[in-house]
Amino acid sequence: MEEVIYGGGQMGLTITEKKEKGKRPEDSELHFGTIFTDHMFSMDYTPEKGWHNPRIEPFKNLDLSPATMMLHYGQAVFEGLKAYKSEKGDIRLFRPDKNFERLNKSSRGMCIPEIDTEFVMDCLKTLIKLEKDWIPESFGTSLYIRPTIISTDAFLGVKASDTYRFFIILSPVGAYYASGFSPVKIHVSKSHVRAVRGGVGEYKTPGNYAASLYASEKAKKEGYAQVLWLDGVELKYIEEVGAMNIFFYINDELITPELNGSILPGITRDTVLELSKKWGIKTSERKISIDEVMAAHKDGSLKEVFGSGTAAVISPVGEIKYGDSIMKISSGEIGPMALKFHDEITGIQYGKIDDTENWIVPVTE
Ligand SMILES: Cc1ncc(COP(=O)(O)O)c(C=O)c1O
Repeated sequence: MEEVIYGGGQMGLTITEKKEKGKRPEDSELHFGTIFTDHMFSMDYTPEKGWHNPRIEPFKNLDLSPATMMLHYGQAVFEGLKAYKSEKGDIRLFRPDKNFERLNKSSRGMCIPEIDTEFVMDCLKTLIKLEKDWIPESFGTSLYIRPTIISTDAFLGVKASDTYRFFIILSPVGAYYASGFSPVKIHVSKSHVRAVRGGVGEYKTPGNYAASLYASEKAKKEGYAQVLWLDGVELKYIEEVGAMNIFFYINDELITPELNGSILPGITRDTVLELSKKWGIKTSERKISIDEVMAAHKDGSLKEVFGSGTAAVISPVGEIKYGDSIMKISSGEIGPMALKFHDEITGIQYGKIDDTENWIVPVTE
């Protein structure tokens, strides 16, 4: 493989460019997280040097000792955000500062050294510019961005690692709702929890996702797309749905569980809350129990339920199964509230609607 090396530059960022570039598939052939662009960003941490050796180089496998701490004890954090291309062709990030703030918050919780968010943002923009031909163009498609930090000491004792690797990889992804924006069926887990109070649920760390697999696979076998997670103490209060935050529209109140330490503070959740306040919708961040939802369904005041997250933006819920009870929501149709948030947020992301809140960070040449 022939490579052109240039760089150094103001940021001390070294760029090693691949000469023979890969080819992005047609937008209609894109799925989620299966193919990766030509290059990745990396830097390393040691106690002596801090974060150092920032570099963009061809995407490649990691060369790690089988004793690498990350592989045994999961001391790692990650993020998920997207770059969108507008109809005019400009490249746009949506609230990326929030992702890097959350990455540092997760790092603090996992005893990982924080990164300089402004520096990393500049490196990310440089990487995206280099990979601009990998960004798909049709509405709903995007370039998924996965910043990750892993512990790299080759050591089998349980402690915080001394050394780390930070990397960012990019993956062109298809439209989440390729076959139409449609409601999902969800299953309330009565036996498994995703996270516990005082644990690491509010951090984006691999263990939370490993802990979710058993109940998720079980729900899928029973024909349900996602698990509705209850709290880990009483199995009573609603926390999240799959890897999304959750909203309930009951009477005229839009309710989402308050951030209690075991819920991931979603950026889409925050965006929905900001918009609902702006639109004058009565909004509450509070405890909401599964019994309250059942009662609201029974008396007809439960109007809508939807999940929020970067992947789907808004995911309407059409059915909830709890024990032997099945609740049909909005007659299995998409509710007007879910649709309004979906259209507004995606409209801003793809440049169809004015960004009055300054949520867009452009990636300019
Ligand atoms: C567990 C979990 N909850 C909620 C979310 C939604 O967060 P965001 O809106 O920042 O994508 C995610 C996705 O990042 C997640 O993994």
